[in-house]
Amino acid sequence: ESSLSKKQMLKGKRILISAGPTQEKIDPVRYFTNHSSGKMGYAIAEVAAQLGAQVTLVSGPVSLETPPNVNRIDVTTAAEMYQVINSHFEDSEIIIKAAAVADYRPKQTVDQKMKKKDGELSITLERTNDILQSLGDHKTNQYLVGFAAETHDVLEFGTEKLKKKNLDAIVINDLTKPGAGFGVDTNEVTLLTRTEKKFTFPVASKKQIAQQILNEVAIDLGEQGK
Ligand code: CTP
Ligand code: CA
Repeated sequence: ESSLSKKQMLKGKRILISAGPTQEKIDPVRYFTNHSSGKMGYAIAEVAAQLGAQVTLVSGPVSLETPPNVNRIDVTTAAEMYQVINSHFEDSEIIIKAAAVADYRPKQTVDQKMKKKDGELSITLERTNDILQSLGDHKTNQYLVGFAAETHDVLEFGTEKLKKKNLDAIVINDLTKPGAGFGVDTNEVTLLTRTEKKFTFPVASKKQIAQQILNEVAIDLGEQGK
């Protein structure tokens, strides 16, 4: 494969990427969130744009620069991410959901700062929408890529998510591996496709992992005539 064809691999493809954590408000000064840095999703956005794609990046709160030639839309909560992703879904050919979306949010939020009291505090949490599940349930011709963050039975849970969410591919992260997951600049992942291909990418920079993921996605997409 020539470097030119590789360079043009995603030319003109409309790609929608989500990245980063979400923040779920408790009161004006407090929220629930997670350790996602956004680095993996941003690396995918950067490389996809380099490969000629038209990239929309829906980003939770992160401290990262927008990659060149990427249309970035900032959101805070899972509900906002759901809305923005949905409004771009029909127009997208490839969707890559790298974001670490909160599964729960406080059932009640208060507009004034909560004052501390003696004793314990309980906060009731309610489920957010599973954005990826809803995309999988409603997709037509889109190529849908999910992520899985796991700490045990990693391949089993990843395979289950691929099927349950009706995905075309899933990137499985084993958070117990030292060079993988949240915060660090490297990653080590397994990519599974609906067509039962399995790739294990050894520890490398998130940018290199992004290149390998997008390479296999482009090949798999081509094989399906998409
Ligand atoms: N996801 C989503 N919306 C949610 C929760 C998760 O779109 N409310 C997406 C993530 O962006 C990711 C995939 O679902 O691409 C898997 O996320 P993960 O947290 O690994 O799995 P869950 O399905 O949430 O299951 P659990 O956290 O219980 O393992
Ligand atoms: Ca989750």
